[in-house]
Amino acid sequence: MQSFEELSKKFSEHFNRAHFPEEPSSLYEPNNYFLSLPGKRFRPVLCLMACELFGEIQPSAWDIASAIELFHNFTLIHDDIMDKAPKRRGQPTLHTKYNESTAILAGDVMLVKAYDYINKLSPEYISPILAIFNKTAAEVCEGQQLDMDFEKRDAVSFDEYLHMITLKTSVLLAASLQMGGVLGGGSLGNLALLYETGKKIGLAFQMQDDYLDAFGDPEKFGKQPGGDILANKKTFLLIQALEQCSTGQRQELKELMAGADKEKVPKVLQLYRDCKIDEWAREKKNLFLNEALDHLNEIAVISQRKLPLKELAQLLVKRDY
Ligand code: IPE
Ligand code: IPE
Ligand code: MG
Ligand code: MG
Ligand code: MG
Repeated sequence: MQSFEELSKKFSEHFNRAHFPEEPSSLYEPNNYFLSLPGKRFRPVLCLMACELFGEIQPSAWDIASAIELFHNFTLIHDDIMDKAPKRRGQPTLHTKYNESTAILAGDVMLVKAYDYINKLSPEYISPILAIFNKTAAEVCEGQQLDMDFEKRDAVSFDEYLHMITLKTSVLLAASLQMGGVLGGGSLGNLALLYETGKKIGLAFQMQDDYLDAFGDPEKFGKQPGGDILANKKTFLLIQALEQCSTGQRQELKELMAGADKEKVPKVLQLYRDCKIDEWAREKKNLFLNEALDHLNEIAVISQRKLPLKELAQLLVKRDY
């Protein structure tokens, strides 16, 4: 059984190679730039760990881990256009460094490359893996559209937020685990449990991402501080602050959110602090983490084999990067 450190190192050695041809360099150089930025590689490692739950890591799991990481990077390139984000992984986003049209095409061809890796599977695995992959890819698009629809709305409930982040984020973590389990030969029952584990980890993971967008150290987190506030995102911080603040604070928060200038960020952050959103968030994240660990516990393999996944689940939720 291998830890996150071991598997992310091995995955990086496997993944850090040329995925694209040289020409036209105006298309492929931007993709090489993006892939060279320091991503955390959580999703491919989830896939590899799920495979290892049931025995040795199958050679095909490395290809699917690559497909997952390429798909994830494609979503980030397009997400940064949608979110008008200037920074990612501490560096300029692809559309900022190059231009939007190139970023759209670079993302498209990265998605195509992900399918090339799926196509390397032996024939009996192609259909079951494609079914999971395609369902997930469509759901991520649905979640991303909801995320943008919510920017335009004043009121979004916490349940609507959970539905949106399930689609845009959780399902990819869930599918990464499930596809690793399929290649490892897991039973249908165990595969369903892996999927539920990933979905719950994903909720806590996106909550932590939203928290760090507001309160993270920009050096470590690598994104523009307060980007979600500027983009009028309906994160749990805003939803819950509106829920638990006083009438006066609610009015102030609504007025601030209606504005578009950068000066609103520190004021909104102060309101979040005053409303003690971080305490509330810690409890919620722990709830989802515990639900994830309950599902993991139910998987019918000896508990020692689950230790790396358990540790990774905890890291995903508590990370500050
Ligand atoms: C960012 O995911 C997108 C979200 C779903 C929050 P990561 O934080 O895993 O991004 P990288 O790959 O490590 O940069
Ligand atoms: C990310 O949500 C979801 C996807 C990329 C599909 P965010 O928009 O919060 O992700 P970051 O913060 O830009 O990484
Ligand atoms: Mg974004
Ligand atoms: Mg986004
Ligand atoms: Mg974010």
